[in-house]
Amino acid sequence: MSDEERAAASDGGPAVRRLDDWDRSTLEALAAEHGTPLYVFDPARVRENCRRLRAAFPDAEIQYAAKAHTAGETLQTVHDEGLAVECASAGEVRRALRAGIPGSDVIYTAVNPPAGDLDSVVEAWQENPELTITAGAADTVDRLAERGFDGRLRLRINPGVGAGHHEKVVTGGHPKFGVGLDRAPDIAARIDGEFAFAGIHAHAGSGISGDDLANHRELVRRMGDLARELEADGIPVETVDVGGGFGVPYQEDAPALDLDAVADATREALGEIDGRLAIEPGRYVVADAGVLLTRVNTVKEAPSTVVAGVDAGMTTLLRPAMYDAYHAVRNLGSEGDPSAREQVGVTVAGPVCETADLLCENRPLPRPERRDLLAVGNAGAYGYEMASTYNSRPRPAEVTVDGEILRRRETLADVSRLDAAGDSNRRTDEGDV
Ligand code: LLP
Repeated sequence: MSDEERAAASDGGPAVRRLDDWDRSTLEALAAEHGTPLYVFDPARVRENCRRLRAAFPDAEIQYAAKAHTAGETLQTVHDEGLAVECASAGEVRRALRAGIPGSDVIYTAVNPPAGDLDSVVEAWQENPELTITAGAADTVDRLAERGFDGRLRLRINPGVGAGHHEKVVTGGHPKFGVGLDRAPDIAARIDGEFAFAGIHAHAGSGISGDDLANHRELVRRMGDLARELEADGIPVETVDVGGGFGVPYQEDAPALDLDAVADATREALGEIDGRLAIEPGRYVVADAGVLLTRVNTVKEAPSTVVAGVDAGMTTLLRPAMYDAYHAVRNLGSEGDPSAREQVGVTVAGPVCETADLLCENRPLPRPERRDLLAVGNAGAYGYEMASTYNSRPRPAEVTVDGEILRRRETLADVSRLDAAGDSNRRTDEGDV
């Protein structure tokens, strides 16, 4: 079966949704109704992405990495499509359970877990005994035992090899994550004796595509070897979880990841194992289900570029500032389609007083005008989630394409609520922003 045939058979839609595929008038209407900056999200696209994953990995356990987009509705949508939910903190575990995800489909990956996180997750486990915890250090195993936990425990391995779109998101091989392959058999034996050993886990990094896929395959190969070694030692390995990281094309002309080829290569690298393969995609599930809308407020001709000052910045979408990440930008205009305008090099700059506060630099785009609406593509993954209130900027709202509010716009009152002096000084007639 070709890629397209497989996707169609599973109702998985096209391999990628590009920024140009979003309907201009729908986006304009949402911006007019809800204001900007505004995240727009399409749960139907999440379903398609889940279905393509299921079609490519029919036998694997697919665990959605909640950190990419934690809205309760997203967690429910992915679960409805047969995915479990992988959580990075006690907060995510609580939100998943509150969204109605059963404990048997909740996995908590503990990274240097603060005491409060372990307390909270162990308490949640008492009510949901099928919940799985993944520990990345022998010390964490001790701390769980001290709290009376003896449930399902997976061991995170440091596979000595990593991959990812930027050095800051390569995890495999970094000493922060997991226990070394050489130490794994002893710790796994201990877990098998004292807990319900739920298999092994490793995560290469995030945004893996192109040449980096070879490193991912190497990680999978090492995990397969370890699983067979443990089995030979008499330790049954229920699950071999090879983490997330599937990349999506951020550049308009970049090819979509060939998911079926990745799935085939993964199975081949893993080899024969007694247990079940698990994967933990986050970005792949939600990236192209979201766009960010932002309005041009100031246009300035600089010698080297035209600066379009917009109302979204690094506090709204951090990825360009943090990872030099590329996001497609489309000018939707204000009255009428601006695509006939002259193309110029445009630098889209936010309202934060930091040089890094740029969404793109010198990008060929139709000459911007004040009040133009810009759409920023692939903003569904790690967009809203990494937003902050730096510069006392309330976080944006997020709505579905149908206009349902997923997360209401934050207000200045929300932002200053925790400021002991700020709150009492707040004038009642103060406007909100
Ligand atoms: N599993 C584990 C244990 C992870 O740490 C992560 C992501 C995932 C799965 C999901 O990875 P994905 O399939 O989404 O690549 N903020 C960065 C990405 C950081 C990802 C951290 N861990 C970005 O915006 O590029």
